[in-house]
Amino acid sequence: MQGPLIVSLDVADRADLFELIDKFPKDDKLTVKIGMELFYGEGPQIVRDILDRGYDIFLDLKLHDIPNTVKSGMRQIGRLGVTFVTVHALGGSEMIKAAKQGLIEGSEEAGVQTPKLLAVTELTSITEEVLKNEQNSRLDMVDQVVALAKLAKRSNADGVITSPLEVKALREQVGDDFWYVTPGIRPSGYPKDDQSRTATPAEAAQFGSTALVVGRPIIKADDPVAAYHTMSEEWNNAKR
Ligand code: C5P
Repeated sequence: MQGPLIVSLDVADRADLFELIDKFPKDDKLTVKIGMELFYGEGPQIVRDILDRGYDIFLDLKLHDIPNTVKSGMRQIGRLGVTFVTVHALGGSEMIKAAKQGLIEGSEEAGVQTPKLLAVTELTSITEEVLKNEQNSRLDMVDQVVALAKLAKRSNADGVITSPLEVKALREQVGDDFWYVTPGIRPSGYPKDDQSRTATPAEAAQFGSTALVVGRPIIKADDPVAAYHTMSEEWNNAKR
């Protein structure tokens, strides 16, 4: 199973979005991630407009609420025709199952593909200290992430978002029949920005990532199209 290199379109509004994607040749069929800022600012029409260009979409809204509310929200999201969506695994098994059910119902009603449901385990902004003192977890970070990934898998999620450096351990403990989608990707020699634990596309492939999420190294590059092609080639041609 090999998924795409997903370009994270972390821009503020429609104008910035189209300024960026208009640089790409029409036959580049990108998979792009859009998140809360763009979706809350522009609404679901922005999703339809990106789909109209023939792109696949990772809609990263990280739902976390009671199961019934998440199911209703996911039913609406499922109607859009996006490829990947996210929930917080910390919402629990009933919520994750409800999310999946909502996606199935919405996508079937609209006659579109059912999005893959990806779970966020612990956010990378959570430290060991916060995990222990604020989330009151008995487990350390690695065991917590593995436990949440297992929970997500048995609750019908299709995969998790994780650091590329944790994929090997996750594959061993959670299995190969699950998606491991990894941000924190940097070309060699590129500044890490605020990411601390990074890997190149080739390293991520060797660790076992199923798909990559890349933001600044592409969207802030002097030539985003060239940066995208260089990183995609490295990802597609890497040894696995
Ligand atoms: O610019 P950069 O390549 O660091 O962007 C990575 C994208 O992946 C951003 O949209 C960021 O919010 C997201 N992300 C992340 N780490 C996570 C989850 C999501 O960097 N654990």
